[in-house]
Amino acid sequence: MQELEIDKSLSKEEKYKTLYNQVDSLISINDSAIANLGNVIAAIHHTFNFLWTGIYFVAENQLTLGIFQGTTACTRIPFGKGVCGACYSNRTTIIVDDVNRFDGHIACSSLSKSEIVLPIFDNENKVIAVFDIDSEHLNSFDQVDKKYLEKILESITPYILQFAQLNY
Ligand code: SME
Repeated sequence: MQELEIDKSLSKEEKYKTLYNQVDSLISINDSAIANLGNVIAAIHHTFNFLWTGIYFVAENQLTLGIFQGTTACTRIPFGKGVCGACYSNRTTIIVDDVNRFDGHIACSSLSKSEIVLPIFDNENKVIAVFDIDSEHLNSFDQVDKKYLEKILESITPYILQFAQLNY
């Protein structure tokens, strides 16, 4: 595994491009799913100085906290509740510019101001997890985040599936 090098002065899109191009160097079929996912989550988290970056897996009929970086977090989220539960139920990416204006938002950290949550699908098009990022700033996320996070998630979905099968 190479050390990730991303110039902090790059634009958001350039950072995502560099990150996406380096994802392959962060994952290896010889390493465990948790190692690969942990490294990719750490890379995203630290490249953008997010407040929280991680995965909730579908388990026991709810969303269950998985691998993450950042502040401590709620361990279980019912389907349909919060931004994560809404993402699961609607099967679509949700961008929240101001979490205080999202009805039902679950505040795991009072520092969180904006959020993006993306669904992760298995081969049968079932949502098996959601990928959640929180920012300490308002309006942090837009279509650029959605586009590149979807690309990055596509690269790591096999490991997300593997982790879910092994652990839940
Ligand atoms: N804010 C999320 C809960 C998860 S934490 O942000 C890590 C929500 O409303 O679903």
